[in-house]
Amino acid sequence: MTATSAPTKQQILDGLAAISAPDGSPLPKTGTLSEIVVSDGKVFFSITVDAAAVKAWEPIRKKVEDAVRAMPGVTSVMVALTAERAGGGKPAAPAHAHNHGPGSTHAHGGGPAGVPGVKAIIAVASGKGGVGKSTTAINLALGLRDLGLKVGVLDADIYGPSLPKLLAIKERPQTLGGTRLKPISSYGLTVMSIGFLIEEETPMIWRGPMVMSAITQMLREVEWGTLDVMVVDMPPGTGDAQLTMAQQVPLAGSVIVSTPQDLALIDARRGIAMFNRVNVPVLGIVENMSFFLCPHCGERSDVFGHGGARKEAERLKVPFLGEVPLDMAIRETSDSGLPVVATQPDGPLAKIYREIAGKVRDQLQGGGAARAAPKIVIEA
Ligand SMILES: Nc1ncnc2c1ncn2[C@@H]1O[C@H](COP(=O)(O)OP(=O)(O)OP(=O)(O)O)[C@@H](O)[C@H]1O
Ligand SMILES: [Mg+2]
Repeated sequence: MTATSAPTKQQILDGLAAISAPDGSPLPKTGTLSEIVVSDGKVFFSITVDAAAVKAWEPIRKKVEDAVRAMPGVTSVMVALTAERAGGGKPAAPAHAHNHGPGSTHAHGGGPAGVPGVKAIIAVASGKGGVGKSTTAINLALGLRDLGLKVGVLDADIYGPSLPKLLAIKERPQTLGGTRLKPISSYGLTVMSIGFLIEEETPMIWRGPMVMSAITQMLREVEWGTLDVMVVDMPPGTGDAQLTMAQQVPLAGSVIVSTPQDLALIDARRGIAMFNRVNVPVLGIVENMSFFLCPHCGERSDVFGHGGARKEAERLKVPFLGEVPLDMAIRETSDSGLPVVATQPDGPLAKIYREIAGKVRDQLQGGGAARAAPKIVIEA
């Protein structure tokens, strides 16, 4: 035991009794607190509230964090505000609109501050779920790494974080000097996910303000260090998380992932429209699960009518970044924490992702992005 050993869970609960819920009752009596995790002076827990009451709870979350931080022996604290989800599955993207007209561009002076030390932040997004954003994000990040860039990955999918699984990460982030979190290193990438901080099984939904506070914390309270590129794995849809990203950081651009089907392409268009709305340039479209190469006979079949995304990119005048086949190796490696670019670097799939990464880098460097964007210079 050191002189300032961390408080026990009970001591934290006792300390929180002085803080009241919006209805006036002492916080520990409200049944809103999750399991309190105390590890090596670091304290993590969540407050689960009714989605409608989130606004009233945000200042309380802050108060709770401050109170716990002030306890002797506490080196850092992260308190997340979450709302209970009724059923399984993901919530629909929150519908409330932000007034975010074209006049509110943040790309130039007076916009949001960047993350210190991070040269370019790009979002990997799609209008629709399950099209392979996370898989693309991690392999694109590794492809950029292979080009000699220093790369970070931020998992902004707080509805269903993927990085713990994609990289088989079980450890919790360490803290640095009080309140800042040290990201995790994996395959030469600097990575952070809300999934490193909360239990995987916790059923929850994050709405407007909660999304913002979680993403803001992951951007601003994580010691990202010096990065050439931060790749952000976005949640599906065109809701608050995406708008928050655009509001919180100057995004250098977005990469839209789509499958070849028409339906997914409609969603991709929606994604592109959203980034246009917030003046974030679209760096290009990746067609994922584009075609199927039979592992036995080597014959290629266009399961979903391949080529749709390329045509769509032409029509929308955004760059086409490449086609990734539907391949069991991709599924198996990403689902077992061994991303294909890292584990099969000499294979054909790694080559495809590196080519996509090269185009993304060129887009960032050359300002070839379709819309007015801050020019980012990346020295490899
Ligand atoms: N090219 C591919 N070939 C085979 N399987 C793939 C490919 N791309 C992705 N997958 C698999 O498809 C599933 C969904 O992929 P992923 O999680 O990357 O999608 P997502 O768009 O991030 O989903 P979500 O919207 O839920 O965040 C995963 O099991 C993944 O391994
Ligand atoms: Mg995902």
